[in-house]
Amino acid sequence: MAFKSATALALLGASSVDAFFRMECRGSTGLARMDPIMDAGTVSGHVHTVHGSSGFSLSATFDDLRNGQCTSCAVEDDLSAYWTPALYWHDYDTDEFSIVQQVGGMLAYYLQRGDNVTAFPAGFQMISGSNYRRDYTVGDPASPDPPQSNWAMLKQTGQDDLAQRALGFNCLNYKKDPEASLFRHYMPDKEYLDANCPDGLRLELMFPSCWNGETTSADHKSHVAFPDLVGNGNCPDTHTQRLVTLFYETIWATADSAFGSNGEFVISNGDPTGFGYHGDFMAGWDPEFLQQALDECTNDSGLLSDCPVFTNKAPLKSEDEMRQCKFDVPQLLAKENCAATDMKELPGGVQVQAGPESATPPGDSDSYPTARITSDSTTSKYSAPTLTYSPAASSSTAPMGGAFLETSESSADDVNVLATSSSSSSSSTAIAPATTVAPVVASEPGVSYEVVSTQTVTTGVQVEEIVWKEPIVYVTEDTVTTVTVSSQEQKRRRDHAWRHRHGRGQ
Ligand SMILES: *[C@@H]1O[C@H](CO)[C@@H](O)[C@H](O)[C@H]1NC(C)=O
Ligand SMILES: *[C@@H]1O[C@H](CO)[C@@H](O)[C@H](O)[C@H]1NC(C)=O
Repeated sequence: MAFKSATALALLGASSVDAFFRMECRGSTGLARMDPIMDAGTVSGHVHTVHGSSGFSLSATFDDLRNGQCTSCAVEDDLSAYWTPALYWHDYDTDEFSIVQQVGGMLAYYLQRGDNVTAFPAGFQMISGSNYRRDYTVGDPASPDPPQSNWAMLKQTGQDDLAQRALGFNCLNYKKDPEASLFRHYMPDKEYLDANCPDGLRLELMFPSCWNGETTSADHKSHVAFPDLVGNGNCPDTHTQRLVTLFYETIWATADSAFGSNGEFVISNGDPTGFGYHGDFMAGWDPEFLQQALDECTNDSGLLSDCPVFTNKAPLKSEDEMRQCKFDVPQLLAKENCAATDMKELPGGVQVQAGPESATPPGDSDSYPTARITSDSTTSKYSAPTLTYSPAASSSTAPMGGAFLETSESSADDVNVLATSSSSSSSSTAIAPATTVAPVVASEPGVSYEVVSTQTVTTGVQVEEIVWKEPIVYVTEDTVTTVTVSSQEQKRRRDHAWRHRHGRGQ
């Protein structure tokens, strides 16, 4: 078990290292306009990449998922369905659309945060994110989030605010230390991706984890709520029970040389901004079995192989087995190739809408294929914000390659010492702050740098402008380990973890 030094606590705030496991779903079960939550029984307006049970269908229910013949995830008993929109390249010169390859399937983190974490009951389903959103209203998306400790004061803990911060677009460069999860809340443009992200883009999605006890709700959202720091913090009075916290990661090969320079990446729902990214979840677990896994999978590694609840029951599936699992594409969609290149329009005829006003629904999906909307040839040429690449903490035990940024309570000097020693590859000493119980590998706390962003807070009649201009330290709440290893060893382990997490190929 990990435990922390006083220094680490000061660095990391009051959060503890929570148990978690990382569900690997190496195969996509299909790429199709299907969404049994939002468009049950009909064709969905836009394409999703789907993972999990082969029982997925246009109108899949909990029982259908449980009756699936296979799962594209590593644990045989995980017959859940996980889906998110796919990513396309929109070439401005030809006004054509091409699929972006998904890399390595998806990861679904089951993070145990809060008290009395409950397994998803039979029939539980939910969504996160808003399909039609095209704007960001929680400050300037080109600036890092303010420290979490200030969100309440800044009045940024409304559900709508939290939902916008639940989306992440992680710029991947495996030669550098990774960015924190949910660091950037918008889709970077092609120029930025070319300059900074040679290993692609990781799309991230946090789900609400506060619960009112219902399996679903009319809008598929209101039976759940975010705790006041998105992925952790306190639940609202209306949703007091704590579910296991679900977090999705999918990686997209945006650096593919097939894409030219004159164009944009657009989500399958016609969103080039990223603000309308979203995802869906339908539980397909035996609730008792999942609860047992939550109670007993407490190894800090998060590896499924370190969880006897899973491995004692059935061997973990091989990557090949996971990739072979597919759902049956319904006749209605049999001819639609959503993985095509050089398409005249996005599948479903979805129009690109850059906002900032909300996107308009794409016609009546019931009447496919006649309801196709003719793509408007005037392209949106959306101009994305720019948030500088900023490495965050990461270590072999960090779930999600990072978490929210947090400012240090301790002095910047302390932080720099840690950062310097952990990045010095020739050093063979573990990073051991002065008053530790055990050596703490602070996992390359983020490089601090100057950032300026302004925020206004109204208190009564007084309007205050807050200027954020200080070194910001990126650390994660999940990165403290007690292993005593050399920096070299630490690096090697981390590399290994990365490879493990981001295996190439489909
Ligand atoms: C968690 O469970 C314990 C024991 O049943 C109970 O005392 C406590 O109030 C619960 N906490 C929450 C937040 O529900
Ligand atoms: C966690 O798993 C590792 C193997 O990855 C093992 O060496 C270690 O003993 C386990 N820790 C606990 C607390 O079970």
